[in-house]
Amino acid sequence: MATAPHRLATLDDAAVLFEVRRRSILELAPPVMPVAAAEAWAEQVTLARMEQKLRDLEIWIAEVEGVVAGWGGIRGDCLEALYTAPEYAGQGVGAALLGRLEGLMRDREFEAVHAEASPNALAFYLRRGYRVTGPLTPVGAWPITRQFPG
Ligand SMILES: CC(C)(COP(=O)(O)OP(=O)(O)OC[C@H]1O[C@@H](n2cnc3c(N)ncnc32)[C@H](O)[C@@H]1OP(=O)(O)O)[C@@H](O)C(=O)NCCC(=O)NCCS
Repeated sequence: MATAPHRLATLDDAAVLFEVRRRSILELAPPVMPVAAAEAWAEQVTLARMEQKLRDLEIWIAEVEGVVAGWGGIRGDCLEALYTAPEYAGQGVGAALLGRLEGLMRDREFEAVHAEASPNALAFYLRRGYRVTGPLTPVGAWPITRQFPG
């Protein structure tokens, strides 16, 4: 697939982003993550919480012909969210969004990006220069960091 263009999200995107997040978790996280754990994770964000995320984070969307293929969000030097719609998985959407968000953070002169990786996504991040920086958190995520080249 050609690289999907990226655009900044607005509050009007809340329902679509909510749905992409939900399907992404339920369809892509298992079987690395047990189905019950994926369901619990998906349920952590309601539509109202998604609207709050749109206010709190800088959210970028990868869009293919008007369809949301994935989205990711940052706050300061933290990557707070990254989701690919299942039908676009494995086509470079997540990697391109991650690259875009990292580029924004580098431009803002942060030295590193910090995130918490769910177990299903850990290998994706490790292959992209991230390192685990601590023990599994109480919610079952790995703290990870990627140092930008000096
Ligand atoms: C983790 C996640 C965002 C990855 O998204 P994705 O769009 O499938 O990722 P990509 O396609 O960029 O890369 C995944 C694999 O696809 C393949 N791929 C990448 N570009 C490709 C292309 N152009 N053509 C074919 N395959 C490609 C690669 O094998 C890549 O594996 P690699 O890590 O060895 O390079 C996605 O699996 C997801 O949303 N998971 C559920 C939610 C989640 O876990 N989010 C992260 C929370 S921390």
